This record gives sequence, C-alpha cells and structure tokens, in this order.
Amino acid sequence: MQSTISIHIGKLKLKNPVMVASGTFGYAEEFKDFLDLKKLGAIVTKTITLKPRQGNPAPRTCETPAGMLNSIGLENPGLDKFITEKLPILKKIGVPIIVSIASEKDPREFVTLAKRLEKIKEISAIELNISCPNIKNSQLPTHSPQLISQDPSATFDLVKQVRKATGKVIITKLSPNVTDITAIALAAEKGGSDAIALINTISAMSIDINTKKPKIAMVTAGLSGPAIRPIAVRMVWEVYQKIKIPIIGMGGIMDTLSALEFFIAGATAISVGTANFINPKVSVEIIEGIKKYLTKNKIKNIKELVDSLKA
Ligand SMILES: Cc1cc2nc3c(=O)[nH]c(=O)nc-3n(C[C@H](O)[C@H](O)[C@H](O)COP(=O)(O)O)c2cc1C
Repeated sequence: MQSTISIHIGKLKLKNPVMVASGTFGYAEEFKDFLDLKKLGAIVTKTITLKPRQGNPAPRTCETPAGMLNSIGLENPGLDKFITEKLPILKKIGVPIIVSIASEKDPREFVTLAKRLEKIKEISAIELNISCPNIKNSQLPTHSPQLISQDPSATFDLVKQVRKATGKVIITKLSPNVTDITAIALAAEKGGSDAIALINTISAMSIDINTKKPKIAMVTAGLSGPAIRPIAVRMVWEVYQKIKIPIIGMGGIMDTLSALEFFIAGATAISVGTANFINPKVSVEIIEGIKKYLTKNKIKNIKELVDSLKA
C-alpha cells in the first residue's frame, strides 16, 4: 500500500509534509552536497530583512543539555542580495521556496518586503518571523512586549497589513515566550494568515561558572533542540483546538518518532531545525520514516494521523 503524504498549506501543495526550519538550513546551497534537496517538502530560508544585518557579537551559540542556545541576531545579506545571489540557486532546486522575513525596527518593513517578494513567481510562500528572541525592539519601554508575537493585537494588525500586500501564502511563525499561545494563533488566523508555524526558540540563558560570564555575548538567547520538544508538542496540541488553518510544527524534531508526535498532536506539516546541524540528511530520513510508519499502520493518508491523539 502506498500512503498519500502530500498536504496543502493554503493554496500551496507540498509533495510531503517535511520542511527545513528557518535559520538552520541557510539558503539551501550550504546543504546541497549532503542530501538530495529535491526530496524536501519545502525549504524555508534563513530570515531576511530589508537591509543587510551583521547579527550579534560572538559567542552566539553554545551547547546545552539536549539542545543549544543561539543568538545569531538575524545575520543576513538583506533583500537585494537575497534576490540577486541566493534566490537564483533556490529557484533551480525545484521545491517550494518559503521566504522568511522580519522587520528590524518598524513593522511596516514586513509590508515592503512582502510587496517586493510578491513579484517573484518562484516564491511559494512568505513566513512572517514575528518571533525572533534575538532582536529586541529597543524603541519600546522594557515593560512592553518586545516581540510582535507577544501581543495579539499587534499580531492581528501586522498579518492584516501583509495580507493586503500579497496574494502569496502567508505563514505566521509564533514565539513560545508567551502566556497563551492560542490567543496569538487566533489573532494571526483572524488577520488572514494561511498557516501557523510554531515554535520559535525559547528564551534561555547559560553561565560559565569559572569566568562567571554568560556563555552567549548577548546574555540571553534562544533554546532549541530536543529539550524544547515536549513544550512544542503541547503548544501544537493547544493551538490545534482553537484554529482551523494548518499548523507547521517544530521544536526538537530529531527523527521520525519525534516528527510523528507533532502530527498526532495536530500538525499538518513539520519543520526540522537543530537536527540539521547533527545530521544534514535527517529530513529525508524522516520522509522515508513517515512513509514506513503509515504503511505499517495501514494509514492511507497522512491526514488521518493529524489530531489522532487518544486523550
Ligand atoms: C542557529 C539557529 C538559527 C535560527 N534562525 C532562525 C531564523 O532566522 N528565523 C526563524 O524564524 N527561526 C530561526 N531559528 C529557529 C528555528 O527555525 C526553529 O523554530 C527552532 O530552532 C525550533 O526548532 P528546532 O528545535 O528543531 O531547532 C533558528 C534556530 C537556530 C538553532
């Protein structure tokens, strides 16, 4: 029996539900020697901003128990260089390209980016990174939410503005650093998002006890990897109860077994992040693993697995 593993994210059809997560796969070229990129369901690019960014000072990463901290600070070449240098290579791969975008200071930059990308037919979707914990909006007083995705009304307004600017599929990526992630997911859905991606990294910190210095120059950073998986699965499950649009689940997916948890919790698709640094082929292995699991369990369509939790 050949099970169906194609899925839809809005009007976008993916041949399988496995993507690579923003910031953990560069602009794909970096990984071309390690795996057959054509096998991926979709590629999500490193987040780009309007202007180039150098990112945060080093050290920007460190290992933690069952995970890692990063504070890259959205280092990227900026929109123009992305279009001239990165996109031509991405276009040739032949899988849907999802471009992750973020603003630096003014949320209106999202609209400018979306309008520019709208004209490029090879771009299948735009992911709104309103959840990066490593760039703070210094204009806001410290007691205000620092991320757009920490405020339902800011999330609604932003998604609505981008929705007006583009006919492309919009995916909104949420932060777990909130009290109630369902309120933010609902706001994004109401604003016109086609899908929700969750979770981005969890705000965290690690200290070198000999030097008494933080292990990351910016002191706090984003935690990713298996350590965050149970939190991510819980959040996917909670959000699934509240929204109708598809969820792209991520957070500590290391193998087929961990990917399957996300589908059962309610995700339509999944994204592989930190695991790419350990085994660059892991996404392709997960696609094969999902197929085997469906066949073994006589599941005809991956859709049957979504929200199959027996609670
Ligand atoms: C080194 C690194 C860089 C990242 N850069 C981005 C980024 O540019 N944009 C974004 O939306 N998420 C970024 N993320 C978050 C991942 O896309 C993902 O949401 C998160 O790491 C959880 O998944 P994981 O545990 O499988 O890594 C980054 C994560 C890591 C580890």
